[in-house]
Amino acid sequence: MKKKRTGLTAAIIIIVLALIGGGAYWYTSRTEFKLGRAGYSKEQIETIKSLFSEGEQTALINSPAQPDIITIAKSERYQKEHFEDYLKDLISGKKAQDILLDYDPWVITLRADECYKPEYLDLYLANRQDGTAEDAKYTINYVNMSLLYSEASEYDEARFEEYEAYRAKFPDLDPKEIVHRVNVSGEYLKEDYFIYAYLDRYEAYKEKNPDKTLAEVVQAVNTNIDRPYYTDIVTTDMSKGYQIMVNKYYKLPEDYSTKLESLSGYGNGYLEPTAAAAFKKMVEAGREAGVSLRSLSPYRSHSMQIWQYQVWVDAHGQEMADRESARPGHSEHETGYTLDINTAVEESHFERTKEYAWLMENCWKYGFILRYPENMEFITGYVFEPWHYRYVGPEHAEKIMKSGLTFEEYYAYYINNPDYQ
Ligand code: DAL
Ligand code: ZN
Repeated sequence: MKKKRTGLTAAIIIIVLALIGGGAYWYTSRTEFKLGRAGYSKEQIETIKSLFSEGEQTALINSPAQPDIITIAKSERYQKEHFEDYLKDLISGKKAQDILLDYDPWVITLRADECYKPEYLDLYLANRQDGTAEDAKYTINYVNMSLLYSEASEYDEARFEEYEAYRAKFPDLDPKEIVHRVNVSGEYLKEDYFIYAYLDRYEAYKEKNPDKTLAEVVQAVNTNIDRPYYTDIVTTDMSKGYQIMVNKYYKLPEDYSTKLESLSGYGNGYLEPTAAAAFKKMVEAGREAGVSLRSLSPYRSHSMQIWQYQVWVDAHGQEMADRESARPGHSEHETGYTLDINTAVEESHFERTKEYAWLMENCWKYGFILRYPENMEFITGYVFEPWHYRYVGPEHAEKIMKSGLTFEEYYAYYINNPDYQ
């Protein structure tokens, strides 16, 4: 009997021990236990279990405790696919905030940008919008530029885009100067052909002509018509080459001379060699298209222009003469770049011929422009001269003929714009 009891007791003890052992084994093999042993607090373990997958939890168990991984995982910038990288970087001693940035695609784009400045990172982050690559570019520029603009005391944050639009035209201009120009130019800034250097003249002209639109004011001042003809005459800037301006405000230098090439076989007289070659090509192209072009009156010497102008004055008086003929030194015919084609009298209505129609379509291809278009006397200073063509080179001729600008307007903005000098 006693023996039996002893056996039973032993069996119970064995079972109890086995249960304890199994329980202990079960307990110590639990993730919670392992995480605890790895160094995480009870609270952190709870969070880890709710944030990370089993695989990730195993990774955490197998490394020294990195409680900051929780901070990382809770961040809106957390990217699950970078879990391993985050952990590795934490172990290597990097700070959670830095690690988050290192894997943030927006920050990666930001840092790859040539304009990125590490010292402004916090400002970039504060100005982050939608987090796209485009946004990164915008933010860098916004922060960098607004810092530069704000060095000007008159900087107005609300006009940032206007400053930027102006800077696009003048990339080398001091940002403080951009702020100043934009602030003082007001509505003129929206005008396509606005030239800052003329702002005072725009304002003065507008005051005298309150009914004119800003576009009209800009057009007038750019082309000098706020000033009387043949006053404030300047010697034209010969460095402009085939784009020199000769009109009632710009005269040729007194010692002007040019090489000349005969137009023999193409009509009368001479032109400067490049203009002559271009004219000949144009005549030949016209011939193939069935139109007949001839040089009627090309280069005129200064003394010829003296005589020519006087003929007009004698016949019609100075006021009328000035609408049709240039005073000596002020005629394009003296440049060698200009000629009258086929006819030079209004009564023959050259503008009604197929030659004129062809020239309107094609003259720019050879570098010529219609110099005195219809209804533009108020700018050019001359009545419509459908026969008078000026060589400016094909590139400029194309822009002029296609834009419908007079040469005066084009010259003011594209050739002789003081804002670009
Ligand atoms: N007929 C033009 C304007 C001239 O005399 O040059
Ligand atoms: Zn002419």
